[in-house]
Amino acid sequence: MELYIDTANLDQIRQAHGMGVLDGVTTNPTLIAKEGVDYGKRLAEICEVVSGPVSAEVIATTFDEMLAEGKDRATIADNIVVKLPSTVDGLRACKSLSDEGIRTNMTLCFQSLQALMVAKAGAYLVSPFIGRIDDIGEDGMELIVKIRQIYDNYGLPTKILAASIRHPNHLLQCAMVGADVATVPFDVIGKVMNHPLTDSGLERFLADYKKAFG
Ligand code: G3P
Repeated sequence: MELYIDTANLDQIRQAHGMGVLDGVTTNPTLIAKEGVDYGKRLAEICEVVSGPVSAEVIATTFDEMLAEGKDRATIADNIVVKLPSTVDGLRACKSLSDEGIRTNMTLCFQSLQALMVAKAGAYLVSPFIGRIDDIGEDGMELIVKIRQIYDNYGLPTKILAASIRHPNHLLQCAMVGADVATVPFDVIGKVMNHPLTDSGLERFLADYKKAFG
């Protein structure tokens, strides 16, 4: 499974890249607002660090405007993937951009049939939002399982990018049910590598060594 980081924070992106685990980056308007920087400029900075796919979400919501904004974002770097909402206008923009060879990430996917439609329109990635489904008392992981089955039934090449991941168990489940990619907040990487037996084991190795050799 590929691992992306869901942030617009350059320091976090550099750190994850340095750990050797980073396959790509996803951003969205909320994450950019949090950083308080120019979206286009930050995307260019991210693409200097990361050679894998970097998702740039459009602010526009109508077909014509999404198309223009998406084409503009795609000029920033070869690895920009244009992120579009899973709406009817988004579908049309997905089809047009895909036909021009621009990769798309169809975001805000909350039901499996949206995923079927965006795959038919040529999406490179689909982003089902697991955490936000869990938030309303439903099971986000079920959506990943259904999309996996539909895509496998028909050999659809769109990659399932599990988004809105909140904790390591989400990440584990994604890997087990066959998501192609998971995009995680930076802190999830640290949590995954944290185990009390790793810490106590390390402490003991060092104490034993010190006792024997000073
Ligand atoms: O980038 C989209 C997605 O990962 C957002 O996650 O935590 O705001 O639901 P969240």
